[in-house]
Amino acid sequence: MRFDILTIFPNIFSGFLSESLLSKAQKKKLITIKTHYLRDWTSDRHQTIDGKPYGGGPGLVFKVEPIFKAVSEIKRKTKNKKSKIILLSPRGKKFDQAMASKWSKLDQIIFICGRYEGVDERVADHIADEVVSIGDYVLNGGEVAAMVVMEAVARCIPGFMHDADSASKDDHAQYTKPEVFEAKKGTKWRVPKVLLSGHHRAIDEWRKKPRKS
Ligand code: 6GU
Repeated sequence: MRFDILTIFPNIFSGFLSESLLSKAQKKKLITIKTHYLRDWTSDRHQTIDGKPYGGGPGLVFKVEPIFKAVSEIKRKTKNKKSKIILLSPRGKKFDQAMASKWSKLDQIIFICGRYEGVDERVADHIADEVVSIGDYVLNGGEVAAMVVMEAVARCIPGFMHDADSASKDDHAQYTKPEVFEAKKGTKWRVPKVLLSGHHRAIDEWRKKPRKS
């Protein structure tokens, strides 16, 4: 699977991509991730990416033309059959695990990282297949959201996780050594006894208990 990310801040991605499991997955050729600097598709000397909104209003709006050119070139060069173009925006459809799982079967996702102030609406209407948000709060741009979506999708690709189970592991409370942790004198935080008992039925029952959230 291939991820293409269109952004005016490609450097935001470098640490994330080089330090995480995503870099291992790239070395294993399981995935390919390419960031693309949106200003490379501008045609004026100042590499203008945005402009004042028609009708007035504060802030600047990303132009449609550089995004159109970038997406067209990426699609032409990569020719992936099962491909989706996602515009990241706080007004989009809320991203969830079901979408992550479905999209992990694609050959390619092209992320368009917008900025909160706005992207020319023709990008949503004519270029993007879907407009996606990661939650009910506002970020400055789509870059962090693209990382979130990409990581969630990549985890669903067979072979991405070390442990075949861990992508879908039951979510229950877990403990490791030490059995007793003394946070300060006289305060002991203990591992629940049942987990040390070896009674697997009792452990399974215990693991179903609700947890603090
Ligand atoms: Cl996808 N973009 C921005 N700018 N803010 C967000 C978001 C996306 N999802 C939640 N907040």
